[in-house]
Amino acid sequence: MATSDFVVVILAAGKGTRLKSSLAKVLHRAGGRSLAESVVRACLPLKPRGIVAVVGHQADDVTAVVAPLTVKSVLQQPQRGTGHAMLVARRAIPSRVKFALVLPGDAPLIRAETLAALARAHRETGAAATILSAEIENPTGYGRIVRNDDGSVAAIVEDSALTDEQRATREINSSIYCFSLDKLWPSLGSLKPQNVHKELYLTDAIAVLREKGENVQAVLAADPDEVLGCNTRADLAAVDAVFRRRKRAAIMDAGVTIELPETVLIDPEVTVGADSRIEPCVQLLGKTRIGEGCTIRTGSVLADAVLEDNVLVKPYTIVSASHLSRGAQVGPFAHLRDGARLEVNARVGNFVEVKKSVLGEGVKSMHLTYLGDARIGAGTNIGAGTITCNYDGVHKNPTTIGKRVFIGSDTALIAPVRVGDGAYVGAGSVITKNVPPDALGLARGQQVNKLGWASARRREMAAAAKPVKSRPRKKSKRKR
Ligand code: UD1
Ligand code: CA
Repeated sequence: MATSDFVVVILAAGKGTRLKSSLAKVLHRAGGRSLAESVVRACLPLKPRGIVAVVGHQADDVTAVVAPLTVKSVLQQPQRGTGHAMLVARRAIPSRVKFALVLPGDAPLIRAETLAALARAHRETGAAATILSAEIENPTGYGRIVRNDDGSVAAIVEDSALTDEQRATREINSSIYCFSLDKLWPSLGSLKPQNVHKELYLTDAIAVLREKGENVQAVLAADPDEVLGCNTRADLAAVDAVFRRRKRAAIMDAGVTIELPETVLIDPEVTVGADSRIEPCVQLLGKTRIGEGCTIRTGSVLADAVLEDNVLVKPYTIVSASHLSRGAQVGPFAHLRDGARLEVNARVGNFVEVKKSVLGEGVKSMHLTYLGDARIGAGTNIGAGTITCNYDGVHKNPTTIGKRVFIGSDTALIAPVRVGDGAYVGAGSVITKNVPPDALGLARGQQVNKLGWASARRREMAAAAKPVKSRPRKKSKRKR
């Protein structure tokens, strides 16, 4: 099929009543993407002449998802069934286009290779319609393929209309079809609603084509998972599981070790370099990119994180929109966010939060610290319990710390403030003024030692606690 003679039509107007959701069905997500986006992405490699999405429920939101992928939306209002949706799509299809590949917006696991094979089969047999079918374990809810003795298709019978004999058929309609449009349009014209919903079913067009003596074929999908639809939340979970398994397999193929892979969640755009290791219960989300030889230990969640090579993320660490350079180490229980950047070999330890801050090469901040809007020079050590007080209630203010600085434990740095290269800050300081290079900054109450005070206090307390002699109690006159 040449590029110029076929279009793709995606039926995406339905509400998805069975999801019991305020969100339109095709906007629900599985495998880290909306259903609509996944379906469109499966079609793009075929280079069709155009892709048309039939939208209805939350039409603007669905259009916003598919438009960036060069998809044209047409509005179906009200939604009167899949056959009606095709009639609406017709408006957006140039008359000289010969074929349409039709897909439901809720079967996102379909692969481009399978669609290409369907289109090829359709062209080879010269059929009026070719249905992608599949044999699945539990066909309940799907339309079934009823075949003639010669193997061609007689009809698609919806689940609700099955006879007992037909119910045993495990070959289902995927709702993915290739149609010759000169045959499809007239057959849609003679469709009548024959169901309780008063809808025009695209599946009924198959029977109409047969009545007209047209040839209708069905080709079996090699992998039945590819046609799974998402009518219910349970369907969404099953489809999500397949996407996640595929992604983990691709990452492992790239030379990455994943321990207990079924516990690890990886979004579609994530990349991981060879010889990296991912421990159980890790999530790698968004556009996260991980270099070679990295270790992501258990319970960590990385979203839009960039890790260069040989980075170690210790257990239960959260990294979002942040950059970790070669050899950096973070965690356990660390939180890096909103543009945190660790230069080569920098280290962040437990209960440390870093926001929009740059930690220079070899900087260490190992315990119980908040670093926000800070720039910290190479080789500096940040003591336990250091806080950059970056927020004055109105503005976020910067803290600048030079190279080879020593910040003593429990220091509060009241921003905006600077500590020069090579300076020391005494533990427990509240630094409100800049500390010059190589100086000692000390800002805490003077210590007073009162000699003998404690033993005097103990004597006083012992005297106060001596028991007072109690008087004998009078006998009660009342008999008990
Ligand atoms: C449909 C098929 C069924 C097949 C199954 C495969 C029909 C009548 N039945 O059933 O044979 O086994 O898919 O998953 O086609 N849509 C519109 N406009 C409408 C109605 C639906 O755009 O007026 C869209 C929906 O958004 C959805 C797709 O068409 O993406 C399929 O509709 P859905 O209601 O999910 O059909 P099923 O009951 O799953
Ligand atoms: Ca469906």
